[in-house]
Amino acid sequence: HSDSLQDGHGRRVSYLRVSVTDRCNLRCTYCVSQDMHFIPHPNILRYEEILRVMELGVSMGVDKVRFTGGEPFVRKGFTDFLVEAARQFPDLELCATTNGTRIGEHLERLAGTGVRLNVSLDTLQPDKFRAITGRDLFHEVRANIDRCLDAGIKLKVNVVAMGGVNSDELADFVAFAEANPLDLRFIEFMPIGDGTRWSRDSVWLAADIVRDIRALTAVEPLVGKGRNSGPARMFNLVNGQGRIGVISPYSNHFCATCNRLRLTSDGDLRTCLFSDKVFRLRPALRNPRLNRDSLERIVRAATVGKPMGHRLLENMHGEDGVCHTRMSAIGG
Ligand code: GTP
Ligand code: 5AD
Ligand code: SF4
Repeated sequence: HSDSLQDGHGRRVSYLRVSVTDRCNLRCTYCVSQDMHFIPHPNILRYEEILRVMELGVSMGVDKVRFTGGEPFVRKGFTDFLVEAARQFPDLELCATTNGTRIGEHLERLAGTGVRLNVSLDTLQPDKFRAITGRDLFHEVRANIDRCLDAGIKLKVNVVAMGGVNSDELADFVAFAEANPLDLRFIEFMPIGDGTRWSRDSVWLAADIVRDIRALTAVEPLVGKGRNSGPARMFNLVNGQGRIGVISPYSNHFCATCNRLRLTSDGDLRTCLFSDKVFRLRPALRNPRLNRDSLERIVRAATVGKPMGHRLLENMHGEDGVCHTRMSAIGG
């Protein structure tokens, strides 16, 4: 086995986020782009190619892989792929981030893979769901959450926190997390993408959310997080089943402990959510004259230059007010 992956700031990379497609069946206001172009199919990594990158990562100490999109379940064969990944890498923690609209028909097989799911749900009101996502699918997502819990799938629910959009629903979200054994996390709205309706006024700060939750119900902060438990600050709900928390990419910097590497669906390695710098793996994966060592060299070169990203976020929404990075292409 090769040595573990270490970056230039002494951080160890052990968590790979793989976007399997940039396509999605929803059109969320905070994610849509002014020019909806998609990556052409031949440029999308084949599942076999993703498995090769995963194998390489695992040999260098990656112990958690999260699949993202776009929406991963709109890609043909994604559940079969998960089954195969779980078979090939029984010790790997497998996760996926999904909008929850298309998981219903796969639940039994999904449960069998041990995959953990993060489901995005920004409102508990069907009309508002349609306004945010452009589709009338609230009841599908809500029912799929219940069915996941029944099937024993570990669940987190992601809520993008938007002032004036869902800030009036805090009490309902608290009640929802108290009634269900899941982790509910509010994510600060980030100025990523050229079509987002982001403005300083639309940011609902994590610190304010936590203060308001405390005013509504009793919570206990969770401490001693695991290495891969991510940037969320979580609380036990004393009077309920679930947990509640916040992710603060906007107001707070968790870069010092960042352990992530990202792979886009067309095979670019990105070392930071907020950096446009990419390392192209696809040509190397498809060049029969290049072996595994060549791939490993690219992964190591990318990792060494992994930045501390919070400065980059400040720069993304510059003078022109436009950010050309597409969340659907990076996968969050
Ligand atoms: P787990 O801890 O594995 O559940 O991952 P996660 O919570 O990071 O995954 P998820 O895909 O649910 O992402 C939720 C949100 O966290 C993303 O939309 C981002 O806002 C934020 N986030 C995830 N990774 C990063 C990161 O590396 N840097 C920053 N600044 N924010 C991140
Ligand atoms: N700000 C914060 N979160 C976002 N997401 C997508 N775009 C943004 C944004 N601009 C969320 C999705 C999903 C997670 C991966 O990222 O809703 O839950
Ligand atoms: Fe990691 Fe970059 Fe996110 Fe910071 S901003 S936590 S370095 S990905």
